[in-house]
Amino acid sequence: MPHPDAAPQEDAGVAAPPAHVAIIMDGNGRWAASRGLPRREGHRRGVEALRNVVKAAGELGVKYLTIYSFSSENWSRPAEEIEDLMGLLKRFVRNDLADLHKNDVRVKIIGERANLKPDIRALLDEAEELTKSNSSLTLVVAFNYGAQQEIARAARMLAEQVARGELAPSEIDAAKIAANLLTKEIPDPDLIIRTSGEQRLSNFLLWQAAYAEFIFVPTHWPDFGKAELEAAIDEFHKRERRFGGLNAKARA
Ligand code: IPE
Ligand code: IPE
Ligand code: MG
Repeated sequence: MPHPDAAPQEDAGVAAPPAHVAIIMDGNGRWAASRGLPRREGHRRGVEALRNVVKAAGELGVKYLTIYSFSSENWSRPAEEIEDLMGLLKRFVRNDLADLHKNDVRVKIIGERANLKPDIRALLDEAEELTKSNSSLTLVVAFNYGAQQEIARAARMLAEQVARGELAPSEIDAAKIAANLLTKEIPDPDLIIRTSGEQRLSNFLLWQAAYAEFIFVPTHWPDFGKAELEAAIDEFHKRERRFGGLNAKARA
């Protein structure tokens, strides 16, 4: 219990959490391999980590949490692993949707849905529909997602508007492209975390990452929890974001 005279947290100089944290959940396979376990077990433990991190993000005051759960390029993995990952997604939605809804989490899926199996599509639609009016935390699930494909789709949509005579090519600017991305109602990420040591984006949020801060941690995703998320947010607070401008000291 804080002292009754204690100043509210904001007044005490506590920085607000990043509004949007995006995570490339990597390293399930390596986590499993280092224990002599099948990759499947790493993915299963990865879902447990996800459950914890969604809860922690809400507790830490994050408003948007985007998670990269399956990339457009992940179809190149062995069929058996793809089956495991699809099975885990189905189980996650079936088991966790009621809890997410109870906790006022809004679920939003970004990615290509057209070529997914009907049962998976139905589950994704159900998750979005059930939770669409929730407002504590928005959980954005990037599933069958590729940023280049997303940008190409936006270009196609704008080209169609031009072809219909609804838009002049000279009117196409960054805001028009952003408005045609799958993330159009979601603010750009402030912080992008990638686990397991790899330092690349792997086709994740290429457009939206323009001014994000990046944090790469060696921890494999199944070992990532609230403490690791808090540490990343602490590190984020030490960064100086300039957005192309000057900080107060340089300006003086
Ligand atoms: C992340 O773990 C999960 C997905 C990409 C679906 P990986 O499966 O990529 O694990 P590593 O990178 O092989 O260790
Ligand atoms: C990125 O991880 C995709 C997800 C985390 C879902 P990958 O493991 O597929 O990326 P690469 O192949 O190492 O770049
Ligand atoms: Mg990987």
